[in-house]
Amino acid sequence: MDSFKLNDGNKIPKLGFGVFQVDDLNECEKVVSDAIKVGYRLFDTAAIYKNELAVGRAIKKSGIPRSEFFITSKLWISSNYAEAQEGIKKSLKNLDTDYIDLYLIHQPYGDTMGEWRALEDAKRAGKLRSIGVSNFYSDVVKNIELFNDIKPAVNQLEVNPWNQQLDEVKFNQQEDIQVEAWAPFAEGKHDIFQNELLKDIGSKYGKSNGQVILRWLLQRNIVVIPKSTHVSRMKENIDVFDFQLTDEEMNKIAELNKNESQFFDRRDPRDIEKIVRGEKVGAEN
Ligand SMILES: NC(=O)c1ccc[n+]([C@@H]2O[C@H](COP(=O)([O-])OP(=O)(O)OC[C@H]3O[C@@H](n4cnc5c(N)ncnc54)[C@H](OP(=O)(O)O)[C@@H]3O)[C@@H](O)[C@H]2O)c1
Repeated sequence: MDSFKLNDGNKIPKLGFGVFQVDDLNECEKVVSDAIKVGYRLFDTAAIYKNELAVGRAIKKSGIPRSEFFITSKLWISSNYAEAQEGIKKSLKNLDTDYIDLYLIHQPYGDTMGEWRALEDAKRAGKLRSIGVSNFYSDVVKNIELFNDIKPAVNQLEVNPWNQQLDEVKFNQQEDIQVEAWAPFAEGKHDIFQNELLKDIGSKYGKSNGQVILRWLLQRNIVVIPKSTHVSRMKENIDVFDFQLTDEEMNKIAELNKNESQFFDRRDPRDIEKIVRGEKVGAEN
């Protein structure tokens, strides 16, 4: 698997596998085992997904050396440094590993400075190889950068054809912070897998809408972590390194931008209250 180089010198695979909403631990273990067989090595979980245990088990049972995997997990909103340290400890225990390749602050709420300093100390101790943030907008990223020693290596953001995040992607790339796209398919919203423009483009290469979207993100130098519980789709989603979209096709996809989150508004006080309470937010299909 090709990789991008992070600002701390570590490498991250360009494509991985997300396990959000694979809640049942047995199902999650099976899905991750299937994905390992298909060839995925980057797995993206989070404390709040409550399936770190299953990811750790599937990786152990695969018999493949730990060093060949790239595990990402995320700290849930914490009130202070000590609570964040406890969260890191729990993730390491659940994943049954001595180190986590990439650990992110999941949301820009709570004591993000305390959380960041706990992540920095765990990186210095060798427990976290790379550290980063998720759902942090440029102002909050800059604040973290200005008041700490280590800058985020990664910012995981919602990026998909409906919400292309042009300014945020540009900001992070200018700061040498690797962008990683969550919900690359917008979880299927607005019939993305049936979209005619994406179909037209894909037909030229014998590729599906999903493959065109992943290719479009990779060509914007963004890491992708699609999720699927179906082996046939896992195979489809990883098979995106043998074609290249033209500038004209990239520009056509740019026109699909609705310029708004398909899930929630990070700055809406009502949404913030729900996120902090761990409730689902956002519009339905
Ligand atoms: N940092 C954050 O705040 C945050 C938020 C959300 C997600 N994430 C991460 O990003 C990962 C990906 O995002 P996501 O899971 O929300 O959504 P997604 O990857 O955009 O979409 C997943 C949906 O698309 C379907 N699908 C996958 N491949 C397909 C294909 N080739 N053809 C047709 N349908 C396909 C899946 O169905 P089946 O499973 O039935 O195949 C599932 O319903 C998550 O798993 C998680 O790790 C992070």
